[in-house]
Amino acid sequence: EKNGFRSFMDKEIHDQPHAVADTLLGRTDINGRLVLDDLRIDESVLRSVDKIVVIACGTAAYAGHVAKYAIEHWCRIPVEVELAHEFRYRDPVVNSKTLVVAVSQSGETMDTLMAVRHAREQGAKVLAIVNTHGSTIPRESDAVLYTHAGPEIAVASTKAFLSQITAAYLLGLYLAQLRGNKFADEIAEILDDLREMPDKIQQVLDRADHVRETARSMADASSVLFLGRHVGFPVALEGALKLKELAYIHAEGFAAGELKHGPIALVEEGQPVFVVVPSPRGRDSLHSKVVSNIQEIRARGARTLVIAEDGDDAVLPFADEVFFVPQSPTLLAPLLTVVPLQIFACELATARGLDVDQPRNLAKSVTVE
Ligand code: F6R
Repeated sequence: EKNGFRSFMDKEIHDQPHAVADTLLGRTDINGRLVLDDLRIDESVLRSVDKIVVIACGTAAYAGHVAKYAIEHWCRIPVEVELAHEFRYRDPVVNSKTLVVAVSQSGETMDTLMAVRHAREQGAKVLAIVNTHGSTIPRESDAVLYTHAGPEIAVASTKAFLSQITAAYLLGLYLAQLRGNKFADEIAEILDDLREMPDKIQQVLDRADHVRETARSMADASSVLFLGRHVGFPVALEGALKLKELAYIHAEGFAAGELKHGPIALVEEGQPVFVVVPSPRGRDSLHSKVVSNIQEIRARGARTLVIAEDGDDAVLPFADEVFFVPQSPTLLAPLLTVVPLQIFACELATARGLDVDQPRNLAKSVTVE
């Protein structure tokens, strides 16, 4: 079943080009308009939504973070992202003009399910982005957008994460289309960019030897930090989570802009720090700010492990290692930049002799609150 891979996780990381391609497949009607799978919400309700709240846990919540950047940019609707267990136990402001988006691989996460029920009791409409057909969360939601990642066996989520991000982009484009925020040709252009992502993910996989060697050389690391900005921030959080879960190494992700507000105190000689660098072809100031962050931590002795876009030579003077990924539009880049971090965690855990498919203390689907 592992198709020659050492672990399910390794296999699932390599399945990612397909998972993304399959999630994009068959989403447009004969007129080229985006369609959702199972929509039991009136389109007029979706047109009048004035706030989106994404609820999820763990990796699925980081997919929600990425969704926020894309949906706000494309649709000009405010998007909040909240951990489902936190949402449920405060007194969230949701009503019939709120669209709640529940993201879950399993569709059975109890924290997320309870939040779905709570949101519906408050009159909100709930749209589920879920991988497992027939699971509870889509059954209890008003609409469903399935991710087509296929079954995910390894406890740590990889291909489901990329599919969740992909589905969130589709949702953003669907809402932009419905609400007239974007012209059909603009949407078609972004869809074309999205359809190029599976090949680019494959290119990241084909270049993975460097990140694997680096991971093996760091099997004794006791702490690794991850920095990112904009959509690179949730990628940093996800990179840290993968390393904690799989390799049992202390890891933390930060927004790079937060560095000088505290976390930079952690940086000492030899501290490994991954930095996810935004495209230099995107917003200029964003790229240069992250490059100065690399410079700052390097000057304090950090070992800088940089994920940057092909052709971004500006990082070279400050990087101990660079893992290049193909060029892509800034908002779509997480589908590429997270892949080296997944491979890093998987390889490092394997080098430590750990079972990457079944990390200690964790279950694939958390069906208790
Ligand atoms: C991390 C991981 C978990 C899940 C979280 C939500 O690798 O797998 O953080 O993402 O438990 O699970 P689902 O998506 O099934 O609701």
